[in-house]
Amino acid sequence: MITNQKVSYINSQYEFEYGQKARNIIKQNNVSRMNEPRIIELPKIIDPRGNLSFFENSNQIPFDIKRTYWIYDVPGGETRGSHAFKEQQEFIIALSGSFDVVLHDGTKEWKFSLNRSYYGLYIPNMLWRTIENFSTNSLALIVSDKMYNAEDYIRDFDEFKTIKNG
Ligand code: TYD
Repeated sequence: MITNQKVSYINSQYEFEYGQKARNIIKQNNVSRMNEPRIIELPKIIDPRGNLSFFENSNQIPFDIKRTYWIYDVPGGETRGSHAFKEQQEFIIALSGSFDVVLHDGTKEWKFSLNRSYYGLYIPNMLWRTIENFSTNSLALIVSDKMYNAEDYIRDFDEFKTIKNG
């Protein structure tokens, strides 16, 4: 006869094995997606008084935040960026207005249009990134996992491609 205690042991063993398997699959997916840029949807607390969104250190985004900066008052037709980072990862949100983030991995190019304050773009290191097509009064919030370091920039696209592709 199986006692209650035994049943609960079997259940927890099963749960452990099953849970472990699920955790491994999640881990593998995360590892395989780690170097991919992607849009992350942030929580949105809808309220008649005005909506609220947030992200917390490494809860909604895949890194610990070390630095925050923002880009604003961009004259029409201007572009920002056009460089890659050797190490730093970023998460960019259009807090206000809209703009396009163009990414290049040395072979292929992505274009992400950001225009909602509850969607952000995760950008891994070693991607060439340009921000363009800023709307009037747009505000780009950028968080990074590294302190500012001029040495982390690659500002020459040919050099970037050589590092990526050999
Ligand atoms: P840069 O990153 O080149 O701007 P963008 O990529 O948007 O064109 O930075 C512009 C200048 O601002 C550069 O001289 C370095 C300085 N800066 C800091 O001092 N601290 C920072 O955190 C950032 C992002 C830039």
